Amino acid sequence: MAEAVMTKPVPAAASATAPLLAVQGLEGWYGESHVLHGITFDVKPGEVVTLLGRNGAGKTTTLRAIIGILGKRKGSIRYDGTETIGMASRNIAKLGLGYVPEERGIFSSLSVYENLMLPPRVKPGGMTVEQIYTLFPNLKERSGSQGTKLSGGEQQMLAIGRILRTGAKLILLDEPTEGLAPVIVQQIGRTLARLKTEGYTIVLVEQNFRFAQTVADRHFVVEQGRVIDMIPNSELDANIDKLHTYLGV
Ligand SMILES: Nc1ncnc2c1ncn2[C@@H]1O[C@H](COP(=O)(O)OP(=O)(O)OP(=O)(O)O)[C@@H](O)[C@H]1O
Ligand SMILES: [Mg+2]
Repeated sequence: MAEAVMTKPVPAAASATAPLLAVQGLEGWYGESHVLHGITFDVKPGEVVTLLGRNGAGKTTTLRAIIGILGKRKGSIRYDGTETIGMASRNIAKLGLGYVPEERGIFSSLSVYENLMLPPRVKPGGMTVEQIYTLFPNLKERSGSQGTKLSGGEQQMLAIGRILRTGAKLILLDEPTEGLAPVIVQQIGRTLARLKTEGYTIVLVEQNFRFAQTVADRHFVVEQGRVIDMIPNSELDANIDKLHTYLGV
């Protein structure tokens, strides 16, 4: 048995430790304004990582650069071995990356169901609407409700659910818990944990590192357009003073 296994070469991308996403020396601009100065981090398959940092550090811009909606970017962003730095955003999405922006992007005149159906499928294997409703029972009850009638928490669930339908396997989430009540934050946390067990890989931008601690494997600290530190979740408590300094809280 062992011999048979050894004669078959394992492709690099299939190795357990090969990153699903590898960002290296990423630079990014808004017009003339140079805001990312060499962002480097990686995410292993099935991992949940956070980007932590002060306001204006470059966390949202990093997500926008990864999904290809930043005007100008340089450096390297490899997804599952494919270099995406020169690719158009629709082609990046087709590789299996999904982005849930901070503003959520729910269409207020459309129903929950219509919002769910809106983004095109990019890959086979996306969740069905029924599976999304199982994950978020609130959305099932609100299926016919207009986007405007939803609470902030329901809008966030809809924004996440909508991306799961597309077949994306790497989910970029920008401050999903912002402005939500603690009980809803917990629910989002349980959902992320569940997605992790189902094999999704998640990059989470968070201000609330106490929440981040409940879901993440590793934390990357972003400051002035660079990743300046990585803290494994198991070492977060031991590094809490350092983190307070980084975040200015
Ligand atoms: N559309 C834009 N045009 C020009 N500059 C921008 C734009 N959006 C953000 N910036 C600038 O880019 C830098 C990084 O902003 P970014 O939104 O990525 O920060 P962030 O870490 O997500 O902060 P926050 O915690 O406030 O969301 C900041 O200096 C910000 O002022
Ligand atoms: Mg932001």
